[in-house]
Amino acid sequence: MNTRRPLIAGNWKMNGLAADAATLAGDLAKRLRGSHNPSFDMVVCPPYTNISTAVEAAQGTALAIGGQNCHDAEKGAHTGDISAAMLADARCSYVITGHSERRTDHGETDGMVNAKTRAAWAAGLIAIVCVGETETQRDAGQTLDVIGAQVAGSMPDGATAANTVIAYEPVWAIGTGRTASPQEAQDVHGFIRQQLTDRFPEQAGGMRILYGGSMKPGNAAQLMALADIDGGLIGGAALIADDFWAIAQSSGQK
Ligand code: 13P
Repeated sequence: MNTRRPLIAGNWKMNGLAADAATLAGDLAKRLRGSHNPSFDMVVCPPYTNISTAVEAAQGTALAIGGQNCHDAEKGAHTGDISAAMLADARCSYVITGHSERRTDHGETDGMVNAKTRAAWAAGLIAIVCVGETETQRDAGQTLDVIGAQVAGSMPDGATAANTVIAYEPVWAIGTGRTASPQEAQDVHGFIRQQLTDRFPEQAGGMRILYGGSMKPGNAAQLMALADIDGGLIGGAALIADDFWAIAQSSGQK
């Protein structure tokens, strides 16, 4: 029996001013406050400048707040960067590491993602480690090789079900309206689970593996019903409270 509690994670990316964050986080907080024993965990990851606003709006509810990235160093001369300790100090409990947009826009490698993930743990944060293949890699039949290398390189030793969540986000499905078919998604999630089982035998059964890439209310239930999909990392639909909430509701059908 699968006892993994679904995690519904919203990645707001570079969207929203403080007033938008207050409205969105406030709306979700209100819904969580009004729902008894939700069967899922929920986190939203605002841009840095809106973290305090979101934290305030979420206060006293089960809505967790996360960062979208962190530096691997605790402090120092790194202009424009934020450390994991700073996110924890701002009352974040999660941080996304290795999102494909960070890998592409900022040249983040598996080694860097690995170091950021360790920094996240050191600060007491739960890391959401992202992996995903490009369309070219999929078309070339390299998906499992790419994912295998990314998981092996990005996940540090010491990963546990409590300190780490994996997110499989096929790059070709992010923001495109295209999702992996249930079979394509389960094939990769099952492969990741096997890889985790080989490396972290005690922990793998409890580790959550999220799907990300154009997850919407219309396709979420079908994806989250799959054996090794334990929630979603949601971009566009996470900016609309009704949609994000509807996706969260569909996790209950697991
Ligand atoms: P979309 O849901 O907008 O495709 O974004 C997915 C994503 O990148 C979440 O991290």
